[in-house]
Amino acid sequence: MSLSDCRLIYLPKVSDPRGNLTFIEAKKHIPFHIKRVYYLYDVPAGSERGGHAHKALHQLVIAISGSFDIILNDGNSTKTVNLNRPYIGLYICPMIWRELNNFSSGSVCMVLASNAYTEEDYYRQYNEYLLQQK
Ligand code: TYD
Repeated sequence: MSLSDCRLIYLPKVSDPRGNLTFIEAKKHIPFHIKRVYYLYDVPAGSERGGHAHKALHQLVIAISGSFDIILNDGNSTKTVNLNRPYIGLYICPMIWRELNNFSSGSVCMVLASNAYTEEDYYRQYNEYLLQQK
């Protein structure tokens, strides 16, 4: 898996003068079944999250509110993606090192994940990740 497998996904947006609506159906709009949803909020200015890779987890990351940057790294190259729209998700395939920073005040980062939480799915040491990725 490499950076080229990660991509922005434009989600359906129902525009309405009463307020817009976006929805996500597993396997239709995103390439995996959703088994878990989590979100980051009340992120202090200057905070950094992530700093790990997942062995098998597929994820879609959405800036539900505000904005933040995601730095993706596959061991060969890096790419920074700014997420700032609630109808655009970033699909992150397994085995991608990621870091999140530059959170705007009041931002909310929602993540849809293909599996339940297990610490065994993480690489938290970059060197250990690199050894497996190469
Ligand atoms: P982590 O994935 O390291 O957060 P981030 O990548 O946003 O910096 O998780 C932080 C802590 O929360 C860690 O102790 C594991 C725990 N956690 C759960 O218990 N369940 C979950 O679904 C997630 C994502 C994390």
